[in-house]
Amino acid sequence: MQAIIAERWLLQVRFLCDACRLPTFGLVNPVPRLHSRGFGGIKYVPPRSVPRNGPGLPVVRGEKLMKPTVAIQKPLELTDDLLKLRAWRMPDMVAYQHTPDEWWLTPLDDHLPLLRLNRFGLELLTSMDGKTTVAALQQKYGKWVCGPDGQTGRWHLERWSLPGYSLCYFGTEPPAGDRHEAKWDLLLQQIREGWSGQEGFEGEEHLSEFHLHEITKRDGHFDQIETTVSHLFREPSEALQGLTYGRILAKHLRRLGWWTPKPRSIVEVGGGLGYLARELAGELSPSERLGVRYIFLDMTRPFLESQFALAREVGWHASGAQANAERLPLRDASIDLVIDNENLADMTPVKLTRQEVQSDKGDTALHQEAVEWIRRLRLPLGADMPEEFIFNLGPILFMAELWRVLKPGGRAILIEFGIETGWPAPVKLPGHTEYEVQYTHLRHAARWLGFQEQYFALPQFLVIKPDTRVLCTGAAYAIQRFCEAQGKPFAIRAYTERELSKTLGDMLPKLVGCHYHEISDPAWFGLWDFKVLLLEKPGGAPRPSFSETKGFRWYSQR
Ligand SMILES: C[S@@+](CC[C@H](N)C(=O)[O-])C[C@H]1O[C@@H](n2cnc3c(N)ncnc32)[C@H](O)[C@@H]1O
Repeated sequence: MQAIIAERWLLQVRFLCDACRLPTFGLVNPVPRLHSRGFGGIKYVPPRSVPRNGPGLPVVRGEKLMKPTVAIQKPLELTDDLLKLRAWRMPDMVAYQHTPDEWWLTPLDDHLPLLRLNRFGLELLTSMDGKTTVAALQQKYGKWVCGPDGQTGRWHLERWSLPGYSLCYFGTEPPAGDRHEAKWDLLLQQIREGWSGQEGFEGEEHLSEFHLHEITKRDGHFDQIETTVSHLFREPSEALQGLTYGRILAKHLRRLGWWTPKPRSIVEVGGGLGYLARELAGELSPSERLGVRYIFLDMTRPFLESQFALAREVGWHASGAQANAERLPLRDASIDLVIDNENLADMTPVKLTRQEVQSDKGDTALHQEAVEWIRRLRLPLGADMPEEFIFNLGPILFMAELWRVLKPGGRAILIEFGIETGWPAPVKLPGHTEYEVQYTHLRHAARWLGFQEQYFALPQFLVIKPDTRVLCTGAAYAIQRFCEAQGKPFAIRAYTERELSKTLGDMLPKLVGCHYHEISDPAWFGLWDFKVLLLEKPGGAPRPSFSETKGFRWYSQR
């Protein structure tokens, strides 16, 4: 179950549920669409999307960001109306048989402790098959002790359908119904909104505040608060032909001729923990790295330390500074290559009104800046512009900065999740909200600035084998919690079955419900929503380029 939740979470469940007024308990709000960055699980605390776990809070434990709402935590009252409903346990729930008589389950909210069940508890869970009413379950198990911690069946019935637990669903219709499992999604949405206590847009300053002041630790951040594609593939992976994300990216840049001649100054913006730089170094030869300056710019200071450490370990001549991508502290025409992996959705969003755009007058200085960019770029916003919409101002400012700092002939690669039509939606993560990138707008801006651009879906660019099956990220979070409770390490990654078996050994057969998705399945991390934008500033010196056939190199000038 957690599997489903987490996947959906990441993925992008893109339907509207405004019409859903369900006769349910534990779910209430009508919801806009869900979307995700690769967020894996829901955890108020560690994970950001993913992520994050343990009997308790995950990542940013105890910080204001991730407090669940009181309503979510309050046990249900088993009223007559509720007792009449039927109960369905969540599908694909990952359970762990710790001893012959003890099973563990993971509530969706990492603040909550693992649930330990005995045989009666397990029977209660398996009885939730959609045929049994809550009343019948209450009558049979209500007074029984259902686990080694002494909680009764009633205690469990009062909690399991709450969003924080999300172990079952009470209703009159099956949760899948005819709305594509809308009800499970409602649960998720409610949980996400519980993270911030706010629906939708969270303000223009929110993301910079989060990165500047609220991320105090780097450990666990990308496991527990926000998992990225590059983080899931930071170690060699069967899904990437035994390579890491960074290495495969470097190979493709080589294929495009981006290392010929080698860039002498590389800037990585928003480098997270620094794995990408580490892996790029692994792919390049020592002579390709010789004399190259690798500069990290990141808004989050604790991440910079990790970036420097990993980069220097592998021999990069690395430096950098805390900086905002929207105002790069770099001289004009000074950089050969910029890498920005999964960072655009973190840049400043602006919520504009149609009135502001049509009158060319923004209500604030920031809105005015956005309105002026729209006018200058002649962005085709169309006749169906809504009354209010979110505009990716930060990514546009960043792109203008790229144009300024790149040398003629300089290049940039930008990778992030996003959309091609419509308006950016907020994506709720623990502690912060990101915004889809509207790539049609961004590409339009790139061309207006003068860039030559190319655009791909990420799996297409990396030539990922689409039918490789990997563990759903929700299951990975559940396993991480089970391991944590036993003092064992377990890293969140995109495991194939063989890799998981190698990692877990004897523990694997004791897990029930692990399931694997084809990597191309939108239910796994929404990988196809991640796009690659390649930018090249014209005007460099002619570069020698070559193609290789059977060991011979054919050079040409372009
Ligand atoms: C989602 S993480 C991606 C990290 C890493 N590139 C990866 O793929 O795992 C976003 C990164 O961008 C940084 N960041 C967010 N907003 C930024 C901004 N406006 N300017 C510079 N860095 C920013 C964050 O601190 C973080 O390192």
